[in-house]
Amino acid sequence: MKLISVVGARPNFMKIAPFIKTISNYNKSTEKKIKHILVHTGQHYDDRMSKAFFTALNIPSADINLGIGSGSHAEQVGNTMIAFEKVLLEEKPDWVIVLGDVNATLACSVAAKKLHIKVCHIEAGLRSGDERMPEEINRLVTDRLSDLLLTPDELSIKNLKNEGILESKIEFVGNIMIDTLESNIEKASNLAISEIINDNFIQEQKSNDLSNFNSPISHFALMTMHRPSNVDKKEILEPIIRLILDEISLDIPIIWPIHPRTQNQLQQFNLWDELILNDNLILLNPLGYHEMLKLNTRSKIMLTDSGGLQEECTVLGTPCLTLRWNTERPITLLENGGSCVLVGNNISRIREEYKNKLKLKRTPNRPKLWDGKTALRILEAILNTNK
Ligand code: UD1
Repeated sequence: MKLISVVGARPNFMKIAPFIKTISNYNKSTEKKIKHILVHTGQHYDDRMSKAFFTALNIPSADINLGIGSGSHAEQVGNTMIAFEKVLLEEKPDWVIVLGDVNATLACSVAAKKLHIKVCHIEAGLRSGDERMPEEINRLVTDRLSDLLLTPDELSIKNLKNEGILESKIEFVGNIMIDTLESNIEKASNLAISEIINDNFIQEQKSNDLSNFNSPISHFALMTMHRPSNVDKKEILEPIIRLILDEISLDIPIIWPIHPRTQNQLQQFNLWDELILNDNLILLNPLGYHEMLKLNTRSKIMLTDSGGLQEECTVLGTPCLTLRWNTERPITLLENGGSCVLVGNNISRIREEYKNKLKLKRTPNRPKLWDGKTALRILEAILNTNK
């Protein structure tokens, strides 16, 4: 059997690592080996957004890099389809495996289906209900086309059935991100927070006087933000920055690894200089997997619009303010046993929930099948379907 797995952007990398390892273990135990080809579309191309994850998570270099890079959604998707079709015609795989909800997921599933190649979607069935999110379009199209839909939770099975997807194509396998978390938590725990900060400072902030920084090692909030709905409009981004600078950072020091999209927008809106001059805010470059995991295990509270971090906060128990109006991962919400609360980008709501959540104790939670064994169930599902 020949498989092509596709990765494109940062959140894909931690999901593919355990799957590749599982295939390699399987190949050691059998005569009928799986031929596996890893394709990187190149949507995320900076070393810190891409290569660092391959190195840290021992992912073998991609066999093929499509070098797509930045662009509008249509450019990214179109260029990926054109380049990936050539790979498919050359390699003729039995299956294409796509992950999550990034532009590579959509582009490669469409290209494969048009060549009658079977598609398996890892992390199927998540729905935010918000079709203004590019990721929601990617999820809807990919799931509609996939031959094997592997869900991280049971709520996602319900979403797929409601859309009329045949039950026989759906399998509940659990969350593959948690496989990665399980195998890396020990290494992460050995990192020193002071070193993480020192090694990842944004260059311009290096000269700041950090003596005001109230012991970041034991008492800090962690923040990430990159969604277009939060960072692409000045009238939305500026009030969030004011809340961070004028209120929250005075109450608790904030560590904020900055996504390139967000840095670009802050610079464009003339908000960047004030941020880097603030001594209560530690701005870092995008962090590696272990570094982020370590900070998450120690942070008093998380403010984020990332999907993956909502899941990691749930398992680690970090109280989390989800800077979104909806989530495709409702299993991470407090009312479903998770640790997150939706606050959107409404300033008074963020302020109020910040005060409430800061008082909460860390309460780790494990949704069903988030047990570190998902990659094995994924491979079994593919092998069974291929029989
Ligand atoms: C993408 C995913 C999103 C995921 C996020 C995590 C889609 C539709 N979105 O959003 O689901 O949560 O990644 O990071 O696929 N840039 C760099 N260096 C890089 C990558 C990007 O400078 O290595 C810049 C690009 O030039 C672009 C901006 O960052 O201007 C945004 O990148 P893009 O790939 O469009 O989407 P993300 O916002 O990263």
